Amino acid sequence: MLPNVSTMNIAHRGAQGVCPENTLLAAGMGLAYGAHMWELDVSMTKDGVLVVIHDDTLERTTNAAQLPAFAGRAPWRVCDFTYDELKTLDAGSWYVQTDPFGQIAAGAVDDDDIASYKELRIPTLREALEFTRDAGWCVNVEIKDHAHLIGHNVIAEATLDCIRDTDMVESVLLSSFQYRYLEQAGIMLPEIPLGVLVYDEPVADPVALVRSLKAQAYHPWRKNVTEEVVDRLRDAGFGVNVYTVNDAAEMAELASWGVTGLFTDFPLLCWGVLQGELF
Ligand code: G3P
Ligand code: MG
Repeated sequence: MLPNVSTMNIAHRGAQGVCPENTLLAAGMGLAYGAHMWELDVSMTKDGVLVVIHDDTLERTTNAAQLPAFAGRAPWRVCDFTYDELKTLDAGSWYVQTDPFGQIAAGAVDDDDIASYKELRIPTLREALEFTRDAGWCVNVEIKDHAHLIGHNVIAEATLDCIRDTDMVESVLLSSFQYRYLEQAGIMLPEIPLGVLVYDEPVADPVALVRSLKAQAYHPWRKNVTEEVVDRLRDAGFGVNVYTVNDAAEMAELASWGVTGLFTDFPLLCWGVLQGELF
């Protein structure tokens, strides 16, 4: 069951503020830090395996660009490689090299953590769902709409099959910026709750949008949400889960407006805010 709390603490790409995103380590950190669920991004390999990765290329979050076996294959699109090839990649060391949130510099990540990052692999969706199920936890599965996937529903169908096969229908919130995938979910698996992702474009009538897609929640970018928008959606019976909120005061304000979820890279911080310990 999805969490029955006023505001869900959702570990964005796992606890990506403190370790490599979209890995099972990041998921485990989110769980340890008190998140009610985690969020992951799904893409598909050349041979049709669903994998958990945000970008449509491997360059930023793996060592593909440094490996002889991957030489000459730029821009290293996920869809140009088989899963057997992806399995060979280190999906953690990039974090040490870039330290996007300054955690290593700040001393919040120790040498043992860093040494373990190079062992990290790109998880399959199945592995991620099984991990979540075995932990008795929940997950927001975001279906990415990478260029090679546009125009058909193969990734949505495979994702829904995987959710069903792993017995996770009641523990998944499905979302996408690509609304045809949500419509496909409504046909294939009408019981699964849906979140409607929106970028920074203005949406004239969010209630009508969510209703038209038979979704349960609106997932706006944090700069694109106002208290009035939250009120309208909540009054109509819909959830509002906002991404990506990393500032404690902003978390507290959004929670006070009645948002139903906060995607955050720092779930421990969010836990403190929602406990009322920080604001
Ligand atoms: O699902 C919320 C958020 O993950 C959407 O943006 O680019 O981080 O996947 P992105
Ligand atoms: Mg995402």
